[in-house]
Amino acid sequence: MKGNARILVTGAGGFIGHHLVRRLKKEGFWVRGIDLKAPEFEATSADEFAILDLRLWENCLKATVGVDQVYNLAADMGGIGYITANHADISRNNTLINTHMLEAARSNGANRFLFSSSACIYPQYKQNQADVTALKESDAVPADPEPGYGWEKLFAEELCRYYKKDYGFETRIVRFHNVYGPLGTYEGGKEKAPAAISRKVALAEDGGNIEVWGDGQQTRSFMYIDDCVEGLVRLMASDYAEPLNLGTDRLVTINQLIDLVSDVAGKRLTKRHDLTKPQGVRGRNSDNTLLNRVLGWEPSITLEDGLKKTYSWIESELRKAGRLQTVAAGQAAR
Ligand SMILES: NC(=O)c1ccc[n+]([C@@H]2O[C@H](COP(=O)([O-])OP(=O)(O)OC[C@H]3O[C@@H](n4cnc5c(N)ncnc54)[C@H](O)[C@@H]3O)[C@@H](O)[C@H]2O)c1
Repeated sequence: MKGNARILVTGAGGFIGHHLVRRLKKEGFWVRGIDLKAPEFEATSADEFAILDLRLWENCLKATVGVDQVYNLAADMGGIGYITANHADISRNNTLINTHMLEAARSNGANRFLFSSSACIYPQYKQNQADVTALKESDAVPADPEPGYGWEKLFAEELCRYYKKDYGFETRIVRFHNVYGPLGTYEGGKEKAPAAISRKVALAEDGGNIEVWGDGQQTRSFMYIDDCVEGLVRLMASDYAEPLNLGTDRLVTINQLIDLVSDVAGKRLTKRHDLTKPQGVRGRNSDNTLLNRVLGWEPSITLEDGLKKTYSWIESELRKAGRLQTVAAGQAAR
């Protein structure tokens, strides 16, 4: 199959999809990318790229013609502010994308379909403490997921399992935990914490302030994009059809994340906590026992290394846009 398979990546104009296309092309696969938009920061390396709205059945049929494998990453999503404010749109848009994509892929004869789920499917009642017990896959039920985004992801997981049971359709289900890295959205409301913090730190003056959503004691684990893509490719190649966590199990507070990014930038900043802003569940971590058992592997890129690369990319984007002083201008001013 390797090198010969024809692969469809939906959401190929987005963060994870764009990186995945690049990786699959490096391995010699033929790749089609579909999205509502082209990748923002770099040209796609897909053999074919089409702009299609995958909420529509006819477009899902077009997208899945002649492909062997489907990575279904297209979704209406964003950071905690966005997913808290848009329950109806997110649920409707993503339910349409996932139900249509699954059936179109099956009826057009694809032999594998990977669905990108989220740690947001885990019950809120298990995430009330900053010092949480890491979540294992079987914790998903009894269900009490994140409103909107978590419920539609959990339903789509179930739908994949029904397709496997009723049609023998080979589905794969991945539950991502906070993916970050270069070439991701870093402003506008859809960005996640590592990108938002990197932008705020880059724009802040040394010795100045940084705004933090909540008290900053909320905890998460973060996975660098290269580990995410590696896990995706491994899961697709495996014979495991049940939901699987994909994340790191190093728990940090948002305050610690800010300190790490500030260290990378060489800045000392005072945190200003805004308790009116949404912060999601109190704590969330990934239990990687099953991941290790199924794939014989787990993410290993350290947060320090990943943040260095992410910060330096966001800083260079802001510099290119003329929003930071250049080194030369800074030196000239002295
Ligand atoms: N990044 C994370 O930390 C994270 C965590 C959990 C789950 N996920 C899931 O992983 C997948 C990829 O996430 P990402 O971080 O790359 O997000 P992203 O927003 O960068 O990419 C998603 C892409 O889907 C596209 N899209 C949205 N609606 C569409 C439609 N109707 N038709 C076609 N394309 C459409 C968007 O334009 C976007 O480019 C999503 O399913 C997301 O829910 C991501």
